[in-house]
Amino acid sequence: MTGKHKNVGVLLSGRGSNMMALVEASRAPDCPYEVVLVASDKPDAPGLTWAKDQSIACWSLSPKGIGKPAYEAALDAALRGANVETIALAGYMRLLSDDFVARWSGRIINIHPSLLPKYKGLDTHARAIAAKDAVAGCSVHVVTEELDGGEVLGQAEVPILPGDTAETLATRVLAAEHRLYPQILAAFAAR
Ligand code: GAR
Repeated sequence: MTGKHKNVGVLLSGRGSNMMALVEASRAPDCPYEVVLVASDKPDAPGLTWAKDQSIACWSLSPKGIGKPAYEAALDAALRGANVETIALAGYMRLLSDDFVARWSGRIINIHPSLLPKYKGLDTHARAIAAKDAVAGCSVHVVTEELDGGEVLGQAEVPILPGDTAETLATRVLAAEHRLYPQILAAFAAR
């Protein structure tokens, strides 16, 4: 491996299709990152099953009952134990605390299903359709204490078509996410 090779930990809460795209792209011989851990706040997340089948190390813990500080301390220990250098959020639907973000400052990135700075937060596709936007899309950005507010590293645009619903638009944007995220993570890892 080259000096620019980075160990990546992917955090997810559900399906994990972006994680799968990141793992599949990492198998190219010149890819500057490797997914060494997939971690989740949802022990039954479907993405974990896929990652386990690929023999990728997995970690999960529900914060319910133990509280956020204890959950995040365990998450941090798991990431450090796996020698993770960069964290990629991929459908991780829980806000990281300011403390956690500060400990990993500049080393967490996220994919968000809108053209930031438009539509931070949830229901991005319904909001873009309601606003009669001509285009929607996705953004990969550095995670900071401000929700969906850090430096944008890359974006992909997708047209909004007549008759689009939030669901049809989400499907089209997701395909763009799968192309964008591996490219941006590779560039970020090689920085
Ligand atoms: C993706 O569309 C991602 O952009 C979005 O959740 C979906 C996860 O799908 N993330 C957010 O909304 C973060 N606020 P996946 O589990 O199949 O990758």
